[in-house]
Amino acid sequence: MADQPLVLGIETSCDETGVGIVRGETLLVDAIASSVDEHARFGGVVPEVASRAHLEAMVPTIERACTTAGIGLRDLDAVAVTSGPGLAGALMVGVASAKALALALGVPLYGVNHLASHVAVDIVEHGPLPEPTLALLVSGGHSSLLLVPDVTHDVRSLGSTIDDAAGEAFDKVARVLGLPFPGGPHIDRAAGEGQVVIDFPRGLTTGRDLERHRFDFSFSGLKTAVARWVQAREASGQPVPVADVAASFQEAVTDVLTRKAVLACREHGVEHLQVGGGVAANSRLRAMARERCEAAGIELRVPRPGLCTDNGAMVAALGAQLVLKGRSPSDLSLPADSSMPVTLVQS
Ligand code: KG4
Ligand code: ZN
Repeated sequence: MADQPLVLGIETSCDETGVGIVRGETLLVDAIASSVDEHARFGGVVPEVASRAHLEAMVPTIERACTTAGIGLRDLDAVAVTSGPGLAGALMVGVASAKALALALGVPLYGVNHLASHVAVDIVEHGPLPEPTLALLVSGGHSSLLLVPDVTHDVRSLGSTIDDAAGEAFDKVARVLGLPFPGGPHIDRAAGEGQVVIDFPRGLTTGRDLERHRFDFSFSGLKTAVARWVQAREASGQPVPVADVAASFQEAVTDVLTRKAVLACREHGVEHLQVGGGVAANSRLRAMARERCEAAGIELRVPRPGLCTDNGAMVAALGAQLVLKGRSPSDLSLPADSSMPVTLVQS
């Protein structure tokens, strides 16, 4: 085990300052400091507030990670960092910190894609990724179906959202229902108390839409349908059944996501589906994916909820894979790339 590379990963693409340490394919620690409470009253992440919080949290979070893992910085073999996509100012804090650390320690630096990291984190949970794997990546900023022959250098996009990301839809619908930000976990909880009684639209799942957008998603029509339904209810003076609306909305999102993921596995002859990103923490999505994969003979891999939402372990996990597969490190001039394409694993 001691001959496996010891890699520290830094994640700062949004509002979580994450520092994870992985040895080979074993997770030693996943330390997180979140600024989510500072954004809640604005109903969304405020980039300036997030950047400042990363600056303040970075050194204490690195120290906490090392202490918990029982290692010193001098033990590290490499440093990995999210170089994109994400909020530019937030990414810059992580990238600058990682460069300083790599330079001071004299170890290689790997700038990695946040989205590929959401896929790679499953390696520290369930072992090596089968090649190819099909990945359903659902977060606050992205919703994609990816064909992944090799997570260290070959990630192909089969489709993505043409408007809102799945997590964004959860957050916006939560706001309509008067639930706090970020809305995903609150909708998940409320839905548990409700029934699926409203038939909300499933975008891009039938006829010409499906033909033209086979593996794409659209959630903006669904979000509008929920808002209209709630408004009509309020206008008629009746109470809004929050739990039932949450359950019905959640059912529509998870139905579309799992239906298209299974279809993509079938059509591309892939027998393994990995679900990642913050929305993969959703209890209904996890249950429905399990049922549908079982019925279709597909192996399902979903990390525990804490590794689905943003964290440093995922960056360390992908960094360690890059080291293990002998990929070249990034240059110290590595930029923070806020719009890094999903197909670029490393920068
Ligand atoms: O991956 P992530 O932590 O950050 C991004 O890269 O965007 O995803 C955050 C998103 C938010 O929109 C949040 O509402 C959603 O993931 N989320 C959930 C749940 N937990 C987090 N959505 C549905 N159900 C959940 N349990
Ligand atoms: Zn993410």
